[in-house]
Amino acid sequence: QHTPLVDPFARAITYLRVSVTDRCDFRCVYCMAENMTFLPKRDLLTLEELDRLCSAFIRLGVRKLRITGGEPLVRRDIMTFFNAMGRHLDNGTLEELTLTTNGSQLEKFASGLYAAGVRRVNVSLDTLDNDKFARVTRWGRLDQVMRGLDAAQAAGLRVKINTVALKGFNEDELFALVAWCAARGMDLTFIEVMPMGDLGNEQRIDQYWSLKDVRARLAERYCLLDLAERTGGPARYVRLTETGQKIGFITPLSHNFCESCNRVRVTCTGEIYTCLGQEDRADLRAPLRAAPDDDAPLVAAIRDAVADKPKGHDFDYSRQRADGQVSRHMSHTGG
Ligand code: GTP
Ligand code: 5AD
Ligand code: SF4
Repeated sequence: QHTPLVDPFARAITYLRVSVTDRCDFRCVYCMAENMTFLPKRDLLTLEELDRLCSAFIRLGVRKLRITGGEPLVRRDIMTFFNAMGRHLDNGTLEELTLTTNGSQLEKFASGLYAAGVRRVNVSLDTLDNDKFARVTRWGRLDQVMRGLDAAQAAGLRVKINTVALKGFNEDELFALVAWCAARGMDLTFIEVMPMGDLGNEQRIDQYWSLKDVRARLAERYCLLDLAERTGGPARYVRLTETGQKIGFITPLSHNFCESCNRVRVTCTGEIYTCLGQEDRADLRAPLRAAPDDDAPLVAAIRDAVADKPKGHDFDYSRQRADGQVSRHMSHTGG
């Protein structure tokens, strides 16, 4: 039971991303449709089941646990779960407990998260302009997120901003975002937009802005120092000599990083997805529910899924088409 999880390509699985809800108070255009049908409560893993699931993964060698959604902080009683996971930090089996959030609820939860053992949060923010923010999130309020960021920093949480690089949307804000993060002592990571979800007429390829270009633009104004140091996720970092801040690049399109993949995802209904960019998945809820006091079926199901982890995604815009597209929304697997 305690042999570590290693996939067929000799990649050790040490990073688990768990979605705790499919709901979100925003509807970012590249992440969800405007009208989403959310799941009935009985389909969701309970907080107790989430605890069992994560604890099993930790016994199998997961060292980094990231809670996602939807928006994780809209799940009822979610602090109970964070507090429960804190015990794995206390006993040293888990190295990092963290979350990816839109920031809207951080004003309320930041100090509780810190108390539970969270030290770092990734907050998604694509623009500093109120109107553009309302457009990209469909109805989100930037001032609410700003208050959340203030609360997070006041609580002692380190904040990393995640910005999806979008052509024609935030190109003109590149330097403003960098300077604003520097002034607030926050790191900043850019992400290439991936062809996921029900795209309809709206093709991600039209919005795709290669991070090679972003990097080149940054290099016109700053001195970029490549860092070998990683945070356990897919980002590669540089330090800007002038500001001292770290800038990350997540480049699924322009520079594939699947070879060093160390992660799997579990959805809020307990499905394990072994690759963000593929449909490969397996149900973990049935084995969880079938044997409430015995984790052996769950562990077996996890091992089987990892044994089938794909080599990587097939996302590709190079033929002026969104190849390798995945029809499920990003919110389904939490990014
Ligand atoms: P840290 O490195 O700990 O800061 O976090 P992270 O980058 O692993 O987590 P975060 O939730 O901030 O991830 C940012 C985004 O990167 C995700 O939402 C995805 O869009 C993308 N991403 C993360 N992991 C993968 C991956 O395995 N494959 C692909 N294609 N994209 C990924
Ligand atoms: N492509 C790239 N990043 C995406 N995110 C959501 N949808 C996409 C997409 N289609 C990002 C969000 C957030 C993280 C969870 O995933 O902006 O930072
Ligand atoms: Fe891993 Fe799949 Fe992401 Fe590649 S696309 S890094 S294999 S999860």
